[in-house]
Amino acid sequence: MILMNDQFITRGEAHIDIEDRGYQFGDGIYEVVRVYDGKPFRFDDHLIRFERSAKELSLSLPLSSEEIKLKITQLIEMNNLQNGIVYFQTTRGVATRNHAFPTDSTSVLTAYTKEMNRPYEKLQKGIKIVTIEDIRWLRCDIKSLNLLGNIMAKQYAVDHQAYEAVQIRDNIVTEGSSSNFFIVKDGKILTHPANNFILKGITRLVIEKIADKIGIPFVEKEFNLKQVYQADEAFVSSTTMEIMPINQINDKTITNSPGSITKALQEEFEKLIK
Ligand code: PDD
Repeated sequence: MILMNDQFITRGEAHIDIEDRGYQFGDGIYEVVRVYDGKPFRFDDHLIRFERSAKELSLSLPLSSEEIKLKITQLIEMNNLQNGIVYFQTTRGVATRNHAFPTDSTSVLTAYTKEMNRPYEKLQKGIKIVTIEDIRWLRCDIKSLNLLGNIMAKQYAVDHQAYEAVQIRDNIVTEGSSSNFFIVKDGKILTHPANNFILKGITRLVIEKIADKIGIPFVEKEFNLKQVYQADEAFVSSTTMEIMPINQINDKTITNSPGSITKALQEEFEKLIK
């Protein structure tokens, strides 16, 4: 089953109008929530971010956060999802094509579940990343359906036998195509400040809390590629990638990956999802 507004229907029953603004303009927002053992992880944080994205785009949600939470929890149970994700999005709905916000459209919420294993092997061995210019717009803090810059970056990674592409804007390393990026230097975790140039990840938030708990400084500070090459450790984070060590950056191999701080974060993360 899937959720469409407040109705549970089969995927075949759902239809999207050709003038849905999400379909025509990418005029909408989304979230991806991890489900571990049937339980959504950090659901409230995702809902807060979803509401914020909606507000930034003057998009009214068809259901309240409480109702979305209830319906999606029911969807997870209905589909008997144990380990996987819930994807949900809201578009501004159907209106005659015109760039400006319509005054008479009703926003459309859809949600579906998908089974997905945790990326165990990559969490242990680490991944290769490549770097690429950040060509995205200047409101990367909004989790919008407009993902062309992100998908072009990810394709660049695939074309270069890498798992993720980390983006650089004006010499400053921002974030991955679908993840936040971190380096560890002299016992401190460094990551780009949560401003309009990155998405403020929920996993990033979890990492910040873990770092605080285990006494590792979490520093939000800009850094460049040279500093990345000089770092002791590097990792990316996301709902689906969790805390994923990096073992190669472009042509440079990082020995001893995952490093001790990345490992410590991973261990604490494990405790939270159990
Ligand atoms: N991506 N930055 C970008 C650009 C992202 O798309 C994501 C998440 C993150 C990490 O956010 P979080 O920890 O809340 O997942 C950072 C999701 C998973 C996706 O698009 O599939």
